[in-house]
Amino acid sequence: MTTVIEVKNLRKVYKRTRKVAVDDVSFSVSEGECFGLLGPNGAGKTTTLEILQGLRSATSGEVTLFGLNWKQHETKLRSLMGGVMQHNNLYEKLKVKECVELFASFYPSYTPIDTLLERFNLSEKKDAWLSELSGGQKQRVFLAMAVVGQPKLVFLDEPTTGLDPTSRQEFWHIIKDLKEAGTCVMLTTHYMDEAEFLCDNLAIINSGQIIESGAPSDIINRTFETPVIKEPRKATLNDVFLKLTGSTMERESYA
Ligand SMILES: Nc1ncnc2c1ncn2[C@@H]1O[C@H](COP(=O)(O)OP(=O)(O)OP(=O)(O)O)[C@@H](O)[C@H]1O
Ligand SMILES: [Mg+2]
Repeated sequence: MTTVIEVKNLRKVYKRTRKVAVDDVSFSVSEGECFGLLGPNGAGKTTTLEILQGLRSATSGEVTLFGLNWKQHETKLRSLMGGVMQHNNLYEKLKVKECVELFASFYPSYTPIDTLLERFNLSEKKDAWLSELSGGQKQRVFLAMAVVGQPKLVFLDEPTTGLDPTSRQEFWHIIKDLKEAGTCVMLTTHYMDEAEFLCDNLAIINSGQIIESGAPSDIINRTFETPVIKEPRKATLNDVFLKLTGSTMERESYA
């Protein structure tokens, strides 16, 4: 498997506050892999993702993406990746379709915009201003912007926060499709079911340090002496929501 992300001894100290946000973090992610960064609020997830995306400088350590680095290969790297930031108030003065078209224009090839808007259930809103959308609708636009250019690497910082269960499930399918196409996905989430479902490997970060990493099932079995045996999945309130609100998706089994 080709290594896409290689992070070695990454450290970030915010200058003004002298806060050590990321402390000697190392990991690697392969092609077609979904890698999760989990951890409590303030653990250093967004800081790490921002450094990886070339939006913030590291204090020390090494980051290579596709064997390239931000100092020498910024233009090439931008064409290979897409992303959704956790805090994003840009683009409020654009319409939904314009936002996605703008991002499509940054890439050599892209998914037809109308197809993508349909997939994200945004067709009805394509001429709406971003400022007129609900929180979850806006989040779906950001996801569409992240993937429209068919990037080889996608960074998603809490992509499903605020999404309704149907949109969240649709998002999971989109990530699965991306992975099958060989795209490497790096995401943060506070939803452990999501991490377990989507991530091939993950790292748990606490106070800037990785305290555990590996495949979700290996981590579970290492953490609890008695192996956790998955019972066949029972219907949940989530399933009720999907059924009653007319989700067209087939139900995914976690079991
Ligand atoms: N611009 C900044 N200047 C100074 N300190 C910062 C800055 N941004 C983040 N921090 C601090 O760095 C630490 C890590 O923050 P970060 O945003 O990376 O956490 P996170 O894991 O993404 O948390 P959350 O789950 O809440 O999104 C926190 O203690 C935060 O207060
Ligand atoms: Mg964050």
